[in-house]
Amino acid sequence: MIYWLVQSTGAHPVLERGQPPPGLLSASELEHFHALRTPKRRHDWLLGRWTAKHLVQRFLVETTSQRMALDSIEIKNEEDGSPFVELHEQHPTHHLARHATSTRRRLAACLTISHCEEWAFCAVTTQVIGVDIERVRPRAWNFVETFFTDAEARQVQAAAPVWGDTLTTAIWSAKEAALKAVKLGLTVDTRRVECQFDLDQPAEGVWKSFQVTFTPAAPASAVMHGWWSLRGGFVLTIIGPDEITM
Ligand SMILES: CC(C)(COP(=O)(O)OP(=O)(O)OC[C@H]1O[C@@H](n2cnc3c(N)ncnc32)[C@H](O)[C@@H]1OP(=O)(O)O)[C@@H](O)C(=O)NCCC(=O)NCCS
Repeated sequence: MIYWLVQSTGAHPVLERGQPPPGLLSASELEHFHALRTPKRRHDWLLGRWTAKHLVQRFLVETTSQRMALDSIEIKNEEDGSPFVELHEQHPTHHLARHATSTRRRLAACLTISHCEEWAFCAVTTQVIGVDIERVRPRAWNFVETFFTDAEARQVQAAAPVWGDTLTTAIWSAKEAALKAVKLGLTVDTRRVECQFDLDQPAEGVWKSFQVTFTPAAPASAVMHGWWSLRGGFVLTIIGPDEITM
């Protein structure tokens, strides 16, 4: 089952001002936040943490009945940039002990994060997963020729002109989500992922499936499926196992 969440900076008044809401970040995350160089990076990082922490909090309640404070759910990044979750758990101590003991535990689940403008989109599941959010906008044909496979370029040519920009955005977003799922990001040729979409434009807010093929093939343990949705001028894509909760 895939748990997912979309949030905007409108979710909390201080997020709109680029500040961390009280109780959101741990001490080391606050330090990291203040060390980020640009306002845009701080904005994106913070919105991603806000969304990811609320999602992981719900995931823990629903899968383990454990409710954790947001600042005890740390979202870190591997060297390759992929995110993971570390839980800081407080343990009751003997009444004579001076301090409560705490341990850090890495959550055995895969978290994936994407941000675009005022929105962040995250998903978490026990299997391999990647997500992406992109605003629908026109892209030059040169973009399609450079980053898409021949079969993807033919899909864009065959689509009705009114939704060509949406389909181009969806294919691009799907590639980013797929390359996040396999932890490579845009370090490899985007034509190693090929997506096959329906040529009908989906209704707003409805999740539709699409096919995704990796070259070379994804590991057998990572048979992946694609899902996409159109919301308020943005495309959301998920690459993961084939069940999705709405
Ligand atoms: C990963 C990448 C596809 C993200 O795409 P994007 O359009 O720039 O940004 P998005 O908002 O959709 O996604 C960003 C999130 O992707 C995640 N991410 C980054 N690298 C990732 C990877 N290799 N695998 C999976 N997820 C990754 C992070 O959680 C990041 O958010 P955060 O830094 O706030 O935690 C792209 O940045 C990339 O591949 N860059 C080249 C490799 C690189 O610079 N890696 C970072 C090393 S520190």
